[in-house]
Amino acid sequence: VWINETSCTIVNSSIVCDVNCSYSCGTECWRRSRYPCLQVYVSLNSSGKVVRLLHNEEAQESNPECFYIPKCQKDYAALHAMIQNISERLKSQHTVQCFVDPTDRMDSAILMQIYSLVTVLHSLFWPTFTLIGGTIIIAMVKLTQSLSIICERASRIKR
Ligand SMILES: *[C@@H]1O[C@H](CO)[C@@H](O)[C@H](O)[C@H]1NC(C)=O
Ligand SMILES: *[C@@H]1O[C@H](CO)[C@@H](O)[C@H](O)[C@H]1NC(C)=O
Ligand SMILES: *[C@@H]1O[C@H](CO)[C@@H](O)[C@H](O)[C@H]1NC(C)=O
Ligand SMILES: *[C@@H]1O[C@H](CO)[C@@H](O)[C@H](O)[C@H]1NC(C)=O
Repeated sequence: VWINETSCTIVNSSIVCDVNCSYSCGTECWRRSRYPCLQVYVSLNSSGKVVRLLHNEEAQESNPECFYIPKCQKDYAALHAMIQNISERLKSQHTVQCFVDPTDRMDSAILMQIYSLVTVLHSLFWPTFTLIGGTIIIAMVKLTQSLSIICERASRIKR
């Protein structure tokens, strides 16, 4: 749904809270940890609206409050340093290219598209290509078979 590219001016970027998460520590073993929730607000150049900026579509699905959902891990300090780093980098950039929903259904913008058109085309193209390729190969095998049957008959008739 985020298909319109525009430029986003960073309004603010701050860590607002911690979110509980759990990480795997082996088979059927889960430990609790937490990660800092970074909220980023941007002003859209296209409309002047201030909306939340998210890293990508996945962030919208798992936690639309936070810009970036890191992989849960034991070391909270490392996660905090990473999120802090992202926050600093965003603040220093001032404006970024972002993607928005032209129909305004989503109250957020995203920075990166995972499901971009190229990805979608790519993922559609390869299965289609394989299917067509496979069909051609099968057709050729069938053709060879029927040709050899015809040849066999022809040689029998000749004899
Ligand atoms: C960031 O900006 C938004 C929108 O103007 C505002 O709602 C929010 O409180 C601000 N956050 C901080 C931490 O200043
Ligand atoms: C997060 O976990 C702590 C205990 O580790 C708990 O006290 C707190 O209520 C939890 N918060 C949420 C939002 O689940
Ligand atoms: C915002 O849009 C205006 C016109 O729509 C344009 O002139 C301006 O350069 C844009 N700003 C940025 C930062 O792209
Ligand atoms: C942020 O991370 C980059 C590499 O990912 C590193 O080069 C840079 O020094 C870090 N900045 C801060 C402020 O930690």
